[in-house]
Amino acid sequence: MGSFFIEGIRNLEGIVEIGGSKNAALPIIASTVLSGREYIIENIPDIEDVRMMFEILTSMGCIAQFENGLALIDTRGLNTHAVPEDLVKKIRSSIILMGAILGRTGNVEVAYPGGCEIGLRPIDLHLKGFKKLGVSICEKNGILYGKVNNPAGCEIQLDYPSVGATENIMLFAVNTEGKTVIYNAAREPEIVDLQNFLNKCGYKVSGAGTSTIIIEGIKNVPTDTIDYKIISDRIEAGTYLSAATTMRSKIYIKNIEKSHFKSITSLYEDAGCEIREAYHTIIVTNERRIKALEKITTQPYPGFPTDMQAQFMASMAIADGTTIIEETVFDSRFKHVPELQKMGADITTIGRVAVVNGVKRLHGAEVDAKDLRGGAALVIAAIGAEGMTKVNNIYHINRGYEHFMDKLRNLGVIITAIEE
Ligand code: UD1
Repeated sequence: MGSFFIEGIRNLEGIVEIGGSKNAALPIIASTVLSGREYIIENIPDIEDVRMMFEILTSMGCIAQFENGLALIDTRGLNTHAVPEDLVKKIRSSIILMGAILGRTGNVEVAYPGGCEIGLRPIDLHLKGFKKLGVSICEKNGILYGKVNNPAGCEIQLDYPSVGATENIMLFAVNTEGKTVIYNAAREPEIVDLQNFLNKCGYKVSGAGTSTIIIEGIKNVPTDTIDYKIISDRIEAGTYLSAATTMRSKIYIKNIEKSHFKSITSLYEDAGCEIREAYHTIIVTNERRIKALEKITTQPYPGFPTDMQAQFMASMAIADGTTIIEETVFDSRFKHVPELQKMGADITTIGRVAVVNGVKRLHGAEVDAKDLRGGAALVIAAIGAEGMTKVNNIYHINRGYEHFMDKLRNLGVIITAIEE
């Protein structure tokens, strides 16, 4: 699984270039299955989750390869509607293929994803949406079997603005005849990116970025080659911003979309970081120990993202004062807390609430990454910790951060990796 060794207490200085958004890339890659054609997609992040998604497409008869951020995908050869079970287990977000495969072939067979590192991740909202759109679904021995019976556009009210459910329903509805309206849809920028991609492919989607998405189903779209550029990763950018708060820093975070990033930057500004904007770059200056914030609560976009909760906690662990962090999106997303405690953090949790009493300094320790963002948080904590920290299971981090070690080294972090 591999480990990072980080030697703490080095000032951060330099430029970090943000890659393509993981959470935009994965659904867009899934949606290439909808119509058999060639795609050239730019700004694809070089991460394990993308590699896994490509492996799934390849195993289903498609061609999918990428180099230097450029992906070439050809889905004309899709020869099955069954997604390999072992691969689904490795990448939970592969459930997003369900809508696209149903739309293309009329059938789907995919393993039920079950829970994961950050808690139960049910898909009832996805399934309810499909059923309303005319798909029959049954489950046998952990495998979901979906069959399109009487497809027709309809109105779908989501009980929660689930990102995955919104995307899956969009992917099926775009080539289901009739008009589909999704109410209480997720509003994340990644949903807007998916809409833009689908429209480029010839589908008709509007409203993404608001709570109501309108889809005019189109059965046959042209099959000319599509080229598209994925938006940059606001969570990756937020992670480096968070790293900058642990030490005296001046870093340039390049290639970002500032409007996607507001709920993150505003909190760090409140904590005392100076953030200046210049074109697609922000300049982060941190001169002194940051201040605790009274309370933050994770929420669907445009609220503070659950994907930044762990990194923010690492910042607050050494802030001046006490911060209360409430996680409202997932039920089990505090697995980084015991690891931060090993480094001297003073954090108490009660259910989904963490009380973080900032300490002056953390100290190095051997800790385990339990999930993607929690793992990144441990590396951030290590940057501001006295002595050496060993972060184990860095596989989790590599799932979602491209060239993490190299990008940190460019900022002056002393970090090495070993394979185990
Ligand atoms: C979530 C985040 C998204 C982030 C992604 C990767 C939110 C709202 N979503 O998206 O920003 O990029 O993780 O870490 O912040 N739920 C159900 N039934 C369903 C689907 C979801 O009960 O059918 C619940 C989940 O258990 C969870 C919440 O809804 O508590 C949000 O889930 P959802 O947005 O679907 O998760 P992701 O798509 O993984």
